[in-house]
Amino acid sequence: MIKTSPVLAKSQSDRDIADFMFYRQIVHRDSNSYKEMYERSIKDPAGFWSEIADAFYWKEKWNPSEVCSENLDVSKGPVHISWFKGGKTNICYNAVDRNVEAGNGDKIALYWEGNEPGQDGKLTYSELVEKVCQLANYLKSVGVGKGDAVIIYLPMLLELPIAMLACARIGAVHSVVFAGFSADSLAQRIVDCKPKLVLTCNAVKRGPKPILLKDIVDAALVESEKNGFSVGICLTYENQSVMKRQDTKWQAGRDVWWQDVVTNFPTKCDVEWVDAEDPLFLLYTSGSTGKPKGVMHTSGGYMVYTATTFKYAFDYKPTDIYWCTADCGWITGHSYVTYGPLLNGAAVLVFEGTPNYPNAGRCWDIVDKYKVSIFYTAPTLVRSLMRDGDEYVTRYSRKSLRVLGSVGEPINPSAWRWFYNVVGDSKCPISDTWWQTETGGFMMTPLPGAWPQKPGSATFPFFGVQPVIVDEKGQEIEGECSGYLCIKKSWPGAFRTLYGDHDRYETTYFKPFAGYYFTGDGCSRDKDGYHWLTGRVDDVINVSGHRIGTAEVESALVSHPQCAEAAVVGVEHEVKGQGIYAFVTLVDGVPYSEELRKSLIAKVRTQIGAFAAPDRIHWAPGLPKTRSGKIMRRILRKIAAKQLDELGDISTLADPGVVDQLIALKDC
Ligand code: WT7
Repeated sequence: MIKTSPVLAKSQSDRDIADFMFYRQIVHRDSNSYKEMYERSIKDPAGFWSEIADAFYWKEKWNPSEVCSENLDVSKGPVHISWFKGGKTNICYNAVDRNVEAGNGDKIALYWEGNEPGQDGKLTYSELVEKVCQLANYLKSVGVGKGDAVIIYLPMLLELPIAMLACARIGAVHSVVFAGFSADSLAQRIVDCKPKLVLTCNAVKRGPKPILLKDIVDAALVESEKNGFSVGICLTYENQSVMKRQDTKWQAGRDVWWQDVVTNFPTKCDVEWVDAEDPLFLLYTSGSTGKPKGVMHTSGGYMVYTATTFKYAFDYKPTDIYWCTADCGWITGHSYVTYGPLLNGAAVLVFEGTPNYPNAGRCWDIVDKYKVSIFYTAPTLVRSLMRDGDEYVTRYSRKSLRVLGSVGEPINPSAWRWFYNVVGDSKCPISDTWWQTETGGFMMTPLPGAWPQKPGSATFPFFGVQPVIVDEKGQEIEGECSGYLCIKKSWPGAFRTLYGDHDRYETTYFKPFAGYYFTGDGCSRDKDGYHWLTGRVDDVINVSGHRIGTAEVESALVSHPQCAEAAVVGVEHEVKGQGIYAFVTLVDGVPYSEELRKSLIAKVRTQIGAFAAPDRIHWAPGLPKTRSGKIMRRILRKIAAKQLDELGDISTLADPGVVDQLIALKDC
């Protein structure tokens, strides 16, 4: 199960406490009120979360004796997490209608900035309800109802959050697939969740490059049909500025233009009241095996949790303009582009483009244009912009910025400092939010102003979260230590199952350490109790904040007819955090060639997506295996990292000679 031991956090000298007292003037919060609230949340989770949940609209209140389920220990029975059981609500109603009813109908809900500077749009909360209702009515008219799956394969157009909300409104289960995934990956997800309908657009531009999304969907639909599932409707948004409808390949009877149908529907649509524990969405993510996992979140707890974490971690105020650079195809876009902010009535910026197009100043241009006050992004973006130099940043005012956020991987202290000093002009606290697709929302994060920050530490747990560090045997370790990060007790935003595979859910997350949710991350705690995430301890690599299973990349590589075997490991990468390093053994007699290297990489692009393309292919006449045939990745990681004097004991290998062969081929 666990393949490596957690790496200790980097240099101690980077762990200096930056005590930015002036945060307190900005955000009016202090560590005492945090401690009080935190303690209460742990002592009385039912009472704590019920009070918060009371602020939302519930058609029917939950059963007070069933606020939350207790058991996380598989030996005591199945793990079935639930929150607010018996309650009936609707997250779309709470995120959109309720803001209108509160008199904020004219407030901007969504700003849209297109790929090209100058392309923009916006929707007020009242306009957003109408758009959502029209689509919801259309979906109902074609037979999509409560519990039905809908796949959304869209870029960051406003239609993406609209589509998510429309599904939620009628109780349909959305599954957004990041529009950078290939046709094969999309097909795999379609076959798994069997959607009534797939929603896409004809094309999009990413930077200077047009991408024909509809072609990818067409290929995916052919592929899923071959695998026994055919999709009845492909609702396609005509993205006119990129591609006209007459240039789009079309399958009559199946394909429908969004603009032809949706706009004809009424702008009012009744809300489907759903049980707190009814599924809200599936989001596929990578694990240790080749098959992506359909992480399932439900309505009530997720709603309460994403809204509350957003409010506290970013110190949200009604005047804020909030921008999260994540795509709605990932969990960050679900919880902190769409649901969390809208549930707070926030003004959210949706950005279609890429942060360095047309140049590395784009983000700060956008910050000034919309007066963004909360800016939430990933360390990989910070590092890449840092390389382009301060000039791109300092030529913009950025004076609207108040709070910065980071997510996706540990932020290295030098990137943290640049983000803090250059981007934030040494005045904005950074919320380094540690969480996962599975957790639904933030699990550990600084609360701006509540306590001193340490660059690179996600600091302390959010309300209701009990992180523990355990050793190999699952014993909790106290004080200054390093080990496996687990969570004791459930929290409202926790995922409830892996779609169609509750066994895998229990086996992956609850069996490794009895009684705990196992995160898959290593973590150390310093003498002041701060937490330092040290990266994944399973076969998952984190490339630019995107989670990729080594097994998925390996299975794509071995599907190449000339590849006999492949082993993939993560290797440190200056910008991406981790890069993908693949050891490839070719079929007997096939010579190494540059052309073959390219076609192996192309295979990964078509099976997973461009973001999973290996950075390095290392030809391997053989792979280091134990006598029982298990690949020793520990050794491969050291070779990839060029730490050849740290290979450790290789005497247990079936053929220790392969190590020398690999080293000899390192520059091929
Ligand atoms: C994995 C989860 C959660 C949204 C984005 C990724 C790593 C995420 C941090 C952080 C250190 C982090 C962990 C985690 N991670 N945020 N602030 N500090 N590590 O979601 O694809 O589910 O990946 O990302 O390793 O397990 P995801």
